[in-house]
Amino acid sequence: MQLSLSSPFALATLRYSQAAILIILVLFCSFLLLLLFLQWHRPRDKRLPPGSMGWPYVGETLKLYTENPNSFFSNRQKRFGDIFKTHILGCPCVMISSPEAARTVLVTRAHLFKPTYPTSKEKMIGPEALFFHQGSYHSRLKKLVQASLLPSAIRGSVSQIEQIVLELLPTWKSNTINTLQEMKRYAFDVAMISAFGSKQDLEMEGIKHLYRCLEKGYNSMPLDFPGTPFHKAMKARKQLDEKLRKLIQKRRQSGRHEGGLLGILLGAKDHVKLNQLSDSQIADNIIGVIFAAQDTTASVLTWILKYLHDNQDLLEAVTREQEGIRSKIAEANRGLTWEDTRRMPLTSRVIQETLRTASILSFTFREAVQDVEFEGYLIPKGWKVLPLFRSIHHCADFFPQPEKFDPSRFEVPPRPNTYMPFGNGVHSCPGSELAKLEMLILLHHLTTTYRSPLPRLSLSLSLSLSLSLSRTD
Ligand code: HEM
Repeated sequence: MQLSLSSPFALATLRYSQAAILIILVLFCSFLLLLLFLQWHRPRDKRLPPGSMGWPYVGETLKLYTENPNSFFSNRQKRFGDIFKTHILGCPCVMISSPEAARTVLVTRAHLFKPTYPTSKEKMIGPEALFFHQGSYHSRLKKLVQASLLPSAIRGSVSQIEQIVLELLPTWKSNTINTLQEMKRYAFDVAMISAFGSKQDLEMEGIKHLYRCLEKGYNSMPLDFPGTPFHKAMKARKQLDEKLRKLIQKRRQSGRHEGGLLGILLGAKDHVKLNQLSDSQIADNIIGVIFAAQDTTASVLTWILKYLHDNQDLLEAVTREQEGIRSKIAEANRGLTWEDTRRMPLTSRVIQETLRTASILSFTFREAVQDVEFEGYLIPKGWKVLPLFRSIHHCADFFPQPEKFDPSRFEVPPRPNTYMPFGNGVHSCPGSELAKLEMLILLHHLTTTYRSPLPRLSLSLSLSLSLSLSRTD
């Protein structure tokens, strides 16, 4: 039988098929709409922490950089609570300002939150440096770096550090100095001893020079064209690598590993396969430690001078403490010892309080390695998580009158997890003892040999205070 389109049966069939197509279309569109609806309103979005993501792409970056950082964090904390979301530097972030939640990220569930840095920083420092890693490679390196910075390892460096101070201070006399720059000079020289030991190889001057060229690019835009600071820094990084490899080869061949972190890294053998570290692993970690040691310590020292200058009574009390030690040293006709530095309680509290008040590392960056259920919220995989050290250090519940510079608050130990100037957990700072030691030695000589601008002027301090976040900017 042949059907013609004009037959009633054919027309009915056509209508049925049109209706069927229409229904399928409607169903398909409804399904798409449902998918879109679910995409926007997935149950997981409902559980994201409260907060504002700001403008598309730029998020709240401009606000963070134009507002006072203290107000940026505290306004959001007041509005949204201790855990809030935001969007900065092109990344969705969760900021955390309760001690317990910070501990969860950094200690108890640290495996779910890996450290994260801009790729340009990784390229400049070297991708095999410990702070870019998690797991077994990180813990192997951490043990080695820690071994070079334990009190037992650094106590022998007191006289060398003192020598650096004794050579540095006279260059300040009768001059207006840029405090931060001078402190960087000091912290760099101490970091070099810590990295290479006391042996001054021929390569050392070249290494110092190239490191200085490299550091000029640390805070530059990552534009790798001839002439840009980043390009120059990367060129210096390559040359630095060559110089370091030569030094490593020389020390390997001579069989004398010498001291410092380099000596420890050269002597390191994997317990299982007895593998040595490669030259690039060693070079990246040497550069990494110098990077971590310099700007941090220099910024804290700069703040200490500012706080002592602003609190003359305190300065006099610190000077008295140091003069007491000074007279004992003079009687015995000897230099400063490790034991002397253990008898400086007030000066140590000034350092502690400066670390709290200035909180030079306001926060650190982590990244969720998977979707994480966190205190009733969801932190999606890939989001940055920022424990806010500064907010915790400035919380009146833990530190009454937080804006007041008051070292006496450290006569009683702070509540657990409320004081983290050196971080917490697997990535916490291995250099804290060295940093404190070099600050004590400098303060000893500065207070006992020089006088502050007011009331007895003989050293003029031009305080150039920098709050640059040297590893999370
Ligand atoms: C007052 C000075 C210093 C402060 C405030 C400071 C602070 C910190 C903080 C907060 C961290 C942890 C970062 C994080 O969790 O993401 C850290 C890590 C680190 N610091 Fe320091 N630091 C100082 C001095 C030093 C010195 C003198 C050295 C070495 C000689 C050093 C070497 C390191 C290293 C290697 C790491 C990475 C550890 C890891 O990833 O396991 N720091 N520092």
